[in-house]
Amino acid sequence: MKITVVGAGAVGASCAEYIAIKNFASEVVLVDIIDNFAEGKAMDLMQTAALNGFDTKITGSTNDYAKTSGSKVAVITSGIPRKPGMTREELIGINAGIVKSVAEQLIKHSPDVILIIVSNPMDTMTYLTHKTFGLPKNRIIGMGGALDSARFKYRLAEAMDCPSSDVDGMVIGGHSDKGMVPLTRLASRNSVRASEFLSEERLQKVLEDTKVGGATLTGMLGTSAWYAPGAAVSALVQSIVCDQHKMFPCSALLDGEYGLSDLCIGVPVILGKNGIEKIVEIELEAAEKAQLTTSAEGVKATNALLNEIGAL
Ligand code: 2OP
Repeated sequence: MKITVVGAGAVGASCAEYIAIKNFASEVVLVDIIDNFAEGKAMDLMQTAALNGFDTKITGSTNDYAKTSGSKVAVITSGIPRKPGMTREELIGINAGIVKSVAEQLIKHSPDVILIIVSNPMDTMTYLTHKTFGLPKNRIIGMGGALDSARFKYRLAEAMDCPSSDVDGMVIGGHSDKGMVPLTRLASRNSVRASEFLSEERLQKVLEDTKVGGATLTGMLGTSAWYAPGAAVSALVQSIVCDQHKMFPCSALLDGEYGLSDLCIGVPVILGKNGIEKIVEIELEAAEKAQLTTSAEGVKATNALLNEIGAL
């Protein structure tokens, strides 16, 4: 099965690498606008195949979307990343035009493609793609919650001094520093609530550290992170391509679920061969519901900018 990853920068290349290493796709096509850049990344990655033992063929293309035709899944990472001190929302002006033109090319060459949006502000870029192309809503998915949840698990494991594989936890809401809703009440270590191991104050610190997970790394790296975003995308792609029916929080177009409509925001979804197979509605406590509602208001305010800049 063919997968396309648009944007051969750090996130796109990491994503292609993780997909290849997991060996579940026949081909990954990397696309970039910079002459020969995707071809170079693809060649470099292919030279790891013998060492890492994968059979996935990785090819590169400079903006030639004909090479992406017949893709089952396409990932859009294109656009400018955050610099230290920037919010994801500040990227909207440049990234909206890029995401629209990339999605148009992808759909033209693969009419049945399932799109995963990574470009920021991710919830708004996912909404823009839905509104512009009107594909069935199961086929446009925003990656954010899977990454935020992985960062939440990292912080929980750090606090409980245990391996991340012992930990379960989920972040819903918008993929923004203020909008994330880490569900500390449900976080657990092998089914034992995290609150049994951690004080209220320590759990609060886990929550705060999780919400600024991307900003912390942007400050340290000078640009936004790539390993965890790449790994999160590859997990979503695998669940779709292998019809695994795994549950991840992803940005989905809501139509009444969680009392919200006409926006894309992170909620638990089941991912299988059709993309979003199901939106899972879990019972939230009043405070969590209020946080999700506030988060939705923030996402809607960013979505409103799409009209102001003429993107919608
Ligand atoms: C992050 O949080 C890139 O938005 C992404 O690192």
